Parts: sequence; structure tokens; C-alpha cells
Amino acid sequence: MRMYDLILKKRNGGTLAEAEIRAMVNDYVAGKIPDYQMSAMLMAIWFKGMDDAETYALTAALAESGDQVDLSAIPGRKADKHSTGGVGDKTSLVALPLAAACGVKIAKMSGRGLGHTGGTVDKLEAIPGFRTTLSREDFFRIVNETGLALIGQSGDLAPGDKKLYALRDVTATVDSIPLIAASIMSKKIAAGSDCILLDVKTGSGAFMKTLDESILLAEKMVAIGERAGRRTAALVTDMDIPLGRKIGNALEVEEAIDTLRGDGPLDLTEVSLSLAAGMLELALDLSPAESRRRVEAALHDGHALASLKAMIAAQGGDSTVVDEPSRLPQARFSAGLDAWEDAYIDHMNAEEIGVASSLLGAGRMTLDSKIDPAAGLILLKKTGDYVRKGDAIAEFRTNDRVLLSAAMERFRGALRLSKQAPPDEPLIYAKIDRDGVTRYS
Ligand code: URA
Repeated sequence: MRMYDLILKKRNGGTLAEAEIRAMVNDYVAGKIPDYQMSAMLMAIWFKGMDDAETYALTAALAESGDQVDLSAIPGRKADKHSTGGVGDKTSLVALPLAAACGVKIAKMSGRGLGHTGGTVDKLEAIPGFRTTLSREDFFRIVNETGLALIGQSGDLAPGDKKLYALRDVTATVDSIPLIAASIMSKKIAAGSDCILLDVKTGSGAFMKTLDESILLAEKMVAIGERAGRRTAALVTDMDIPLGRKIGNALEVEEAIDTLRGDGPLDLTEVSLSLAAGMLELALDLSPAESRRRVEAALHDGHALASLKAMIAAQGGDSTVVDEPSRLPQARFSAGLDAWEDAYIDHMNAEEIGVASSLLGAGRMTLDSKIDPAAGLILLKKTGDYVRKGDAIAEFRTNDRVLLSAAMERFRGALRLSKQAPPDEPLIYAKIDRDGVTRYS
């Protein structure tokens, strides 16, 4: 195989054979293909796309480029959940305890946040003492004992994807549906769960800004998962507006706890219940109605909150934060932004709001930046709310006072006020499973 020939074939619209894709990935990971040739290939794929067989071959080659986790030490069907990333998206902290409380076994590896989106591992590390690195034995033991364990993704999981993603990031080739689908699904397949529930975000804070693109990405990922023998489904959910009211690591843990207590924001509660119910459908073979009934019961009878508490304790964290969230890290400085006229909040650009939160110290701009677990912001008003001049719209929190003004300016730029009320946006747009697409709007 000559890499030159493969680039030429793809550039001219040809189809790569499975053996060619496999050899290309293996040689790239082994350092035998230089970045400049792989960059040319990625750009050719960006323009010419990949068919389903090519996308599956790429996924399998990436999944097999490193460790493939064997979860057979945990009896029963294991389920995983993946979100394509958003702002204020703490659904893993709510939906996973909900599903675990209903008997689903979850051995999950999560990522850190980068850019405007947060990561579950960073959120959990805001809990004093919480360990996101566990030995494999402890990881399995905790799942067997509590139903749920959540750790950081090990460096050996799909290393081919890690190397390829870093190259995509600097060659303007991230936003390609086959490349995103193969990247995400390679990690999910290598992580070993039998069932995969995908939360594909759509809107201004998501990778995919339009509904049609989001549905297409979801269809591709579901097809890959099913072909790999994993029960896979996806919900396409709104990320045009940040989810919930709190953005930032400790703040999001606090809001997740409130939600599991039954006092959370309606949007976060609804999306989390839907995701958890989706996991029950896949892992326990239950009907949608029965799945929904069980997750609602686990929310209202306190079992889901107890499940979160048990996981925190088992992973070395201070589980008293569940009863006293004020024990979570608190920022030393805060400031408020008030409405500058009487109007409706017509639009909040979710990506820009995520950037504002990062500017306060809540997120990382580069892979090695340090985050402030207490930093972030609270949305006191959201899209669709009517504000009067002087009403507080948001509160900003940080441990570094000099960061406040740039973050507040960025936040203000993300808002659009109007005399007209904006139309309501749905929370859940579609469900995609092996039977096809069901649109709800
Ligand atoms: N998340 C991933 O893991 N990979 C992508 O390509 C995009 C989002």
C-alpha cells in the first residue's frame, strides 16, 4: 500500500477498501505515515466523504488501535451513554444514577472538557477526594457493588483516534460526519459496553448546528454501533440554549444533586429522564412507557440520589456534599450582569456562554490548562424570559477577580434582546434506533 495512491483514490472520489483503511490506521499509529500525508487524506475525506462500509472500517481500525476493555467480570448487560458535548450538560451526573438505580450496570469512561464544552471527569473532580483513576479491579468491583462507576478515559483507549483527532484539530477537518462518527464510536466500542445510548446535541452550543446534520450523525453512529453488535440508540436534544442554569464544574455537580432531589430545572430533568429511560430500553429490554415509569419512580423515591451518593463514596469522594452542597468548592469573587432594557431574551448563543464560563477559569483553552472547580456562571434568566431593566440576568463566579470583566463582556455579546417573545424550542427533537428515525418536531 502506498499512502500516495490512497490519497489520490479518495481525492478522486473513490472508495477505500477495508484492508486499505486498516493498513493506513496501523501505519499512522506506528509512525510510518507522516502527518502531512494523513492531513491530505483527512481533507480528501472531508470533501468526498466516506460510505458506511468505509466509516465502519475506520471505526473498527481505530477501536482496535489500543486496549479493548473486557467487561465480562461484571455480570449482565452493561450500558454506556455518550453526549456529543454541550454547555451546562451535566446529564451524565443525573441520568447515570437514575439508570443505575433501576438496575442498569454502568462502567463508564468519560473525557475532560475542552474549549467551550465541559467534561464529566472535570465535574466529578470538583468533589473533594473523588478519584477518576481506578485500577481495573476497583472499577469492576464498584460497578458490581453500586451499579455505577465513572473514570477518566485511559490513554490506551483508541490511541489512533487520539492521534488523528489532534491532527484534525489543526487541519480544519473536525467537522466531518464520517470522521466524527468513527472517532466517537471507536472509543465507545473499545470501552466494552453492550448497549450505547447517544445524546447528539443540536444548536448553537453543539458541534452540529442544524437538526438535519445532527440526525444524520446520529443515524451513522447508531448504524456503526449495531454493526459492531452493540444495541445502540440516539436522542437528538437541544443545545441551542445551555442546559439547566448552572455552568462550571462544582456548580454543575450542585445542580445535578438538586435535580436528583427533584428540585432541578425542568429542561435538565426532562432530558436526563429521557436519556435514562433510553438506557433502560436498551439494557433491560423494556418498553418506552415502562422505562419512563421506572426512572421517574427512581427520581421521586430517592433511589437515584442514593446511587450518586454511593458512587461518590466508593470512588473516595466526600459524599456529604450530596446533603450539603455548600461543601463543594466555592469561589471567592462574584459579580452580576443586569438587563440594560425591558425586553425578551430572544437568543443566548450557547457556545459563547460556554466560552464566557471558560474565561472565568471553569474550562480549559488548551489540553494542559488548569481549571478552577469553583468558577462558572449561573443563568438567572434564559431564552424566552422577559426582563426589566436592572433585573439580574446572570451571576459570575471565579477565584481570580481579573477574569471577571472579559467573561462578562463575552457573555453580554452572546445575548440578543428583543421586544418579541421568541418561539419555544423543543428539548428533544428525534429518536434514532435500528428501526429508523422518529421525529418529535
Ligand atoms: N468528539 C469526539 O470524540 N470526536 C470527534 O470527532 C468529535 C467529538
